Amino acid sequence: MCGIVGYIGTQAATEILLSGLEKLEYRGYDSAGIATIWEGKIDCVRAKGKLYNLRSKLEQLETPAPIGIGHTRWATHGKPEEYNAHPHMDSSKQVAVVQNGIIENYRELREKLKAEGCQFVSDTDTEVIPHLIAKLLKESPSPSVPFSPSPFLEAVLKAVKELEGAFALAVISADYPDELIVVRQQAPLVIGFGQGEFFCASDTPAIIGYTRAVLPLENGEIARLTPLGVEVYNFAGVRLKKHPRLLNLNPMIVEKQGFKHFMLKEIYEQPGVVRACLEAYLNNDWNAENSAESPIKLGLPRELYADLEQIQIVACGTSWHAALVGKYVLEQLAGIPTQVQYASEFRYAPSPLTANTLVIGVTQSGETADTLAALGMEKERRSGKEAKYQARLLGITNRPESSLGHMVSHMINTMAGIEVGVAATKTFVAQLIAFYALALDLAYLRESISHQRLQEIINGLRQIPRDIEANLESQERYIEHLVHDFAETTDFIFLGRGINFPIALEGALKLKEISYIHAEGYPAGEMKHGPIALLDAKVPVVAIAMPGSVYEKVLSNSQEAKARDSRLIGVTPANDGEAAEIFDNIIPVKVVEELLSPILTVIPLQLLAYHIAARRGLDVDQPRNLAKSVTVE
Ligand code: F6R
Repeated sequence: MCGIVGYIGTQAATEILLSGLEKLEYRGYDSAGIATIWEGKIDCVRAKGKLYNLRSKLEQLETPAPIGIGHTRWATHGKPEEYNAHPHMDSSKQVAVVQNGIIENYRELREKLKAEGCQFVSDTDTEVIPHLIAKLLKESPSPSVPFSPSPFLEAVLKAVKELEGAFALAVISADYPDELIVVRQQAPLVIGFGQGEFFCASDTPAIIGYTRAVLPLENGEIARLTPLGVEVYNFAGVRLKKHPRLLNLNPMIVEKQGFKHFMLKEIYEQPGVVRACLEAYLNNDWNAENSAESPIKLGLPRELYADLEQIQIVACGTSWHAALVGKYVLEQLAGIPTQVQYASEFRYAPSPLTANTLVIGVTQSGETADTLAALGMEKERRSGKEAKYQARLLGITNRPESSLGHMVSHMINTMAGIEVGVAATKTFVAQLIAFYALALDLAYLRESISHQRLQEIINGLRQIPRDIEANLESQERYIEHLVHDFAETTDFIFLGRGINFPIALEGALKLKEISYIHAEGYPAGEMKHGPIALLDAKVPVVAIAMPGSVYEKVLSNSQEAKARDSRLIGVTPANDGEAAEIFDNIIPVKVVEELLSPILTVIPLQLLAYHIAARRGLDVDQPRNLAKSVTVE
């Protein structure tokens, strides 16, 4: 997490840094700061809280400084206070550093530096870095970079070799006002190439407004940016030949377009997202009679699927919920045993290696540290093994240009467009569509379902965007009204079964993260094994009851909750007499076949969370303590 930016060139850096930070606020918003060099000294301005606090502080400091670095923070080490905000400097204020990541050995380094007389003023792990670099700059350098162009580069490189952990850095020094040094070690960093000016950032949206020529650094690389150009070295000090590539993205001008919040806009974008995914994934020429090729065009090579015996999925948060729906369809349609693991757990307790296994990492941002580490570990532990154990890695992501894109050779792009709201909505639905497509492709190749059945599912999928549109407005009106009753509610339970159990989990997560209300998602049939003790008139229960194999079961589980005085809200078709009798409120959902129902049932749960939070006046798009991209472990 955290976002870093840097600029060196001919323009005043401050506004460029601020506008870059605005695009990176999704990575954290606990505090922000920038440091620039002007007239031989570093000016560092920092502010607690959102970026607008920094912006208003900077109004008093107008400087034409043409070099600077900036940071927006998601607190890991030390409270979100101004004294912990980046940039951090050494005691003599000659070196300033912004960091994204975690320096794991900061305690030892801190003790060592303290013993040598360095004074620490923050609780962060980052502060060791400027002290270390300043110390190394004072020592006469013995060059480790052949033909080293700069003692500053030398000092940063030496300091980096002492750091353990995953991090990206941008560093400036008052003694070297024409140099900006950037480093990537397991945390993203891209360099932007302009005309006589260069940029760096944790993510492309921060620089795309200035240049489309970008060079993503690889792990273990350090670069020296000057007004004359960019030099890239590896940590052994060897200069590398690297060329920028052109991003074919338009500047990502993301606006709310009349919606009060990005989250609501993104909920309404879902029919379009599903259409875009279907357009990309479905083979329009296919029909059950003319079926010489797969109905799905994911562009994945057949060797990825060959002799497949197992699928192993790693993901976090909402992506993990999408993976649970994925497991259901991969097992039920393609007949492949599928495991879903939290990436953060898997990386420390991986399942024993299985042969002919497809490992899938699901991450909308493509930057989630745990998911990347779990995939990296799979790559590593399968390398050198006999062919059937070797890594077959597939990524499902909304950001193909992300770190995930560098790690896996095969990807499904979820085509949802940039998601700004911290709570994932449209990217979740897009991940579901990606899983349906993958399962159908495999089902076709393995002949695990008939062509007739494939056709039925595809027809149902094609209808989904219109189904969402038909539901959206009436659901929203109903939910807007309904949430008046929950002004004082402190706990919610979400129930689902079968393919809609992950949707109960997702409904609870959405509510927790943006409204700060305690919520639990539970398999409806498990309530009686303990959690039912929580129920009383103060705890509303939201049950997802869609016609299909478990419909009657969910209705009777809901009855059990009703018998404990809970207010019962059904996410269920409107015209069912039995449901109408059981539920106190019905958020109506169009009837679709059970297998496809999660795409429709999740949307009212997103709306419910949204309206509860918006009614409480909460910051829906940037909820407390969260960040859109979780780049630390
Ligand atoms: C919830 C949410 C998070 C993310 C999780 C994984 O709304 O957004 O739970 O799903 O942090 O993020 P990605 O998908 O980027 O790996």
